[in-house]
Amino acid sequence: MTRTLEIYTQGLHLAERIFDQVKRNENLIFAEVRDYANLLMQNTLQSPDDFLQYSIRSTPNNFLLAHSVNCVILTSLIGQDLGYESEKLEILAVATLLHDIGMVKMFDLVNSPVKFSKKEREELEKHSVHGAEIIDQLQDIDSSVRDAILQHHEDDDGMGYPSHLKEKGINELASVIHVADVYEALSHPRPYRNAMLPHAAIKETVDSKQRFNRRPLKTLLTVVSLFPLGTYVQLNTKAIGKVVKVTKTAFMRPTLQILVNHDGRPAPDGMLIELV
Ligand SMILES: [Fe+2]
Repeated sequence: MTRTLEIYTQGLHLAERIFDQVKRNENLIFAEVRDYANLLMQNTLQSPDDFLQYSIRSTPNNFLLAHSVNCVILTSLIGQDLGYESEKLEILAVATLLHDIGMVKMFDLVNSPVKFSKKEREELEKHSVHGAEIIDQLQDIDSSVRDAILQHHEDDDGMGYPSHLKEKGINELASVIHVADVYEALSHPRPYRNAMLPHAAIKETVDSKQRFNRRPLKTLLTVVSLFPLGTYVQLNTKAIGKVVKVTKTAFMRPTLQILVNHDGRPAPDGMLIELV
């Protein structure tokens, strides 16, 4: 098992344990949450491509667990690009890991294979308030974590919930989590719908740009790029390649591993080209 997969899997197990502890009204072991959030954040910043690859994988059976971990990967990279220092990155990672903790008593509803009714949607929308209440019971936790969790569904145009806050009235970290949360959710399957392809999820997120703070939204676009890692691209020559590397300074020109040659034959192993 690679170190990346080890850390990623550790996150899925921890997320499961966090939800279990809260469900049984046990005290959340916050030191463990903070240590793991830090570990994932730091390793993501060291090897962004490796972690982004895992963050786009589909995990339909435990989507809330993977969602928490995937969002930490995204918000760590967004936070770094926004120039956050290590302490702020740590708070952001903790808040992101716990942002949907308020869903804990709604698992059956969340996993319903049919689209939510209006009443069910209203019930689900209470999860940010429930999440803040859970955090209120903890000690020695930065108040930004609570505010970020409470406000991660507030929209810049005032159409979000629970308080219809607007623009600068919204906690800064909440606005970072918000954009990562929406993009991650769209690009992964849910019990009642399929996943969107990453580029379609980007387009959908940008199409509703009035909902988001412009800075993290713009940063998300450079982080996930127009050619997300792990996706397939067909070239003008008809050759097919997989995106294996994207640099933030040249995200229009990813490196592709050619899988199928222009003549339809399998390409030799390890053939890489840079898209120009
Ligand atoms: Fe949420």
